[in-house]
Formats: sequence, C-alpha cells, structure tokens
Amino acid sequence: MSDLVHRTPGWSLPQAAYTDPDVFAADLEHVFAAHWLFAGHTGELDAPGRFLTVDVGRDRVIVVRGEGGALHAHHDVCAHRGSRVAPDVRGQVRAFVCPYHQWVYDLDGTLRSARLMGDCFATRSYRLAPVAVRESAGLVFVCLADAPPDFDAFAAALEPRLGPHGLADAHVVVRERYRVAANWKTLVENNRECYHCAGSHPEFSLSNFDVGVNGDVRTNPRYDRALAAARARWRAQGLPGEDVNFPDGAPYRVARLPLREGFLSETLDGRPLAAPMGTLTDPDVGSLRVISLPNLWAHANADYAVTTRLTPVDAGTTDVELCFLTARDATVDPDALAAVWRATSEQDWELCERNGAGIASRGYRPGPLSPVVEASVEAVLDWYVSALARPARRAA
Ligand code: FES
Ligand SMILES: [Fe+2]
Repeated sequence: MSDLVHRTPGWSLPQAAYTDPDVFAADLEHVFAAHWLFAGHTGELDAPGRFLTVDVGRDRVIVVRGEGGALHAHHDVCAHRGSRVAPDVRGQVRAFVCPYHQWVYDLDGTLRSARLMGDCFATRSYRLAPVAVRESAGLVFVCLADAPPDFDAFAAALEPRLGPHGLADAHVVVRERYRVAANWKTLVENNRECYHCAGSHPEFSLSNFDVGVNGDVRTNPRYDRALAAARARWRAQGLPGEDVNFPDGAPYRVARLPLREGFLSETLDGRPLAAPMGTLTDPDVGSLRVISLPNLWAHANADYAVTTRLTPVDAGTTDVELCFLTARDATVDPDALAAVWRATSEQDWELCERNGAGIASRGYRPGPLSPVVEASVEAVLDWYVSALARPARRAA
C-alpha cells in the first residue's frame, strides 16, 4: 500500500492521496479499520439499551450499554442474511430486532430468538459479530481490527487529565452535523496547524494564543510566561503538569494549554457558562486538548467540552459531528455554549473545502510545509504514510 502514496518529506501529499478512490479504500483499511476510532460519549450511553452507531466505510458499528452496565460493540449485520439491524443512528432499545425476518438479539449481541428456523436450530450459536470497544474518561472508542493496537497507554494519559472534567457524567447539549467537501486528511491537517488561526478565526483568537500547537517552534515570551504560571496553578489543583504528545509515534495527544489573560473558558467574553465540571474546583484550568487520530479532536474547558468526530464518506467528502457537552445539572444558553467552536469549525470547513477544490484541480502540485509552524502537519503525514505501509489488521 505504501506505493500508492509517494511522499516527499517536508511537502504536502500528492494529489492522488486526496482524490484517488484506491487511496481512499486503503485509508479505510489501513488507517480507519486499524486504529481506535472515537465513537461517542459515555453520557449518550447512560442506560441499558442506549446505543449509537459509527460508520467506517462499508462497516457500521453499534455501541450499546448492556443490562449489567458493560459496554458492547457489534457489527450492524444480522447473522441471518445480513440486514442492518440498528433502528436508527442512535436511540434506545430493549433488544435489536432485525427488520427483515425479526431475529431478536440481546444487547450483548447474542441471538435470543429466530422464528421459523426449525426445531434443530441452535439459536445461541449465532450472534452479532463483536467489535472491540473501550471507554475512558467519558469518551468511547471502537476498533475494527482483529488485533487492536494498545489502548491502555492512551487511557493512562487521558484519565488523570480529562477524568477530572467529569465527561462521564456530562450530556450533549448541542449537536451539529456537517458534510464537508474535502478529504478527511485535509480536515486533520487543518486541525494540526494554527498557521491559519490569526487570519481565519476571530472568535477562537479571542481566548486562544495561536502558538502552543505541537510542532510549532515559534517562541513567544508572553505565551511561555502564561504557560509556566498556569502549569504551577494546575499542579496546585492536582492536575498533571506534563502534556502527552504523540509518544513514540502513537496517534494521540493530551495537552492542557493556557487561555489568554482574562479568559476562563473558550467563550466570547471569557466568562464561564457554568460552574466547573466533574471534580474540578477552579475554573482556571485552561483548555485541555485531546487528539486521537484519525477521527477525534476535543477541547475541554472547565465549564464545557466540545468534541469533533470525523467520518470519511468518499475521497472528497467527510462527515463531521460536533458535540458540545456540559454537566447534567448545568443550565446554559446553547447559543453561547456553541458560539466559539461552531464559528471556528464552520470557518475551518470553508478553508478545507477551498483547499480540497484546489487539490483536486489539474494545477495542484505538492507544496512546501513551513518548518516554523507546520512541523505538526509533517508529523501527521509521516504517521499517515507509515500507517498505509503497515499490513492491514484484518482480512479485507
Ligand atoms: S436478515 Fe435479519 S432476520 Fe433475516
Ligand atoms: Fe482552524
């Protein structure tokens, strides 16, 4: 697969990486089916039978809370003749009843009953095929690989840093869905640099410095002073002072960044919308950034969190789901809650669509990445090309 994409270090990818259906198929197999994918939030799966679904190319995974509280994930494929069984993209069921011939599955995926299959039919020999699922600090992940990569080290980074934000008890207040006309890698590249922030994100730039992105080598004494002072305050609150940045090439980052002076949250005026979530006691916790490649980035402020989930549709199309979460007992104005990140995300999608259109045209050639502010893009492209070169983690 590595010969599908020839990359020159320091340069953007060749056109085919963003437009060729064969590369897109390889992306699904070697990247999306081989890694842990963000599925949704613990708070969406807070009672037996509550489920959500994740699409990965031709695959759909159902994630459901079981009767005993365990989380289960199944391929959404009936063991009879293969119909989809989930009644919707999310919801709550007592059992999954296949709409075709009404085979009935328990929440743990075992077949409970199958009508008109004869006296000798071994009902309990059939089930929805299981998929690996993990839950950490209120975030739920699935992996389609037969032998999933390690999850524990990511959870060990996530739990002490994101755990205090109480996402496991949070609920989704605002959900926005977008269909973006650009390859999924264009969205990830855009997320991994803040070269464009000052020029494109007025709301984001109110509360955020445009440095601090992993791979940005600019020095900024004001930022360095703010970071050192903030880390001392965070340590005093019991929050880990050290960030985790793609350790040994692993596809995740968990990093707490300071906000600009006067801002206690990524809101338009810097004021928190609600009391600190979870076990946080002080609103001054900056903004915790979580990246899990290939399909999640999230910001957790003291008062709210926002997650972004990517779902590749085809080489030139990516679906995005943006969720804003608060503590269950918080009463917030949904428009105030979404103001900064809805605007920032929509600005990003416009940038990505313009980028995608240019990449797809006959005038496109790979261009040089900035060694000053785009080392993070270089790193993510290296990671991507390495992932393509690894054998698939399951039979095609
Ligand atoms: S395909 Fe599901 S019951 Fe027949
Ligand atoms: Fe952006």
